[in-house]
Amino acid sequence: MAGQLIVFEGIEGAGKTTQLQRAAAWLRSQVAVPVLTTREPGGTLLGQELRHLLLKVRDTDEIAPRSELLLYASDRAQHVEQYLKPNLAQGAIILCDRYTDSTLAYQGYGRQLDLELIRQLNAIATGGLTPNLTFWLDLDPEIGLQRITERGAPNRLEQEALDFHQRVRAGYMALAQNHPQRIIHLDAIAAADDLEREIRAILQTRLSEKLCESFPKKLSKN
Ligand code: TYD
Repeated sequence: MAGQLIVFEGIEGAGKTTQLQRAAAWLRSQVAVPVLTTREPGGTLLGQELRHLLLKVRDTDEIAPRSELLLYASDRAQHVEQYLKPNLAQGAIILCDRYTDSTLAYQGYGRQLDLELIRQLNAIATGGLTPNLTFWLDLDPEIGLQRITERGAPNRLEQEALDFHQRVRAGYMALAQNHPQRIIHLDAIAAADDLEREIRAILQTRLSEKLCESFPKKLSKN
């Protein structure tokens, strides 16, 4: 049976990485297929090098927006080919920290590069692999940026001004409106435990439909 690709999206400080890890731990207790976690950029060895190039703070030369776009696309092409497709073919449930919507939100809405061009590039990089489900953890960027400042030194993207992050959030909003079936809006101001419960309930519904024929006993709990 083909696997499931479940993506977590949102601006910095929304708590998506925490929720992804919690969802993975819970899913592992519920299903008999492998549950994997990964991220973009950085889900492969090449991707880790690209991630370093993309996120380190540069005091000399700036990365040009189109160059940035292509580096994210390159990371994704490698990730899809080397990690996502083979594991999905084995039936795994993959929880991925960011995917194509990040490029539309950050490079499209944030950097204001052409959205149609990014859609085409996403199609090339993914070979058409779209997520089965996307959780969008939505948070006011002022709160998100405050949370990451408390965490330590911000990376290159996190250092962008507030209006950049506001455009990114508006981008996610537009994407969620365009893909109401796939993208689930979550209010990330909620307590982590409440968000975790909400995510579990949605996963239970969505994955029961997909997996109950194969794994009825394990999925029927909680
Ligand atoms: P992430 O690993 O989520 O960083 P953090 O865990 O600190 O939030 O993402 C790294 C950064 O890369 C983040 O600022 C968003 C950005 N990004 C893009 O601009 N475009 C993309 O296509 C992706 C995948 C990420």
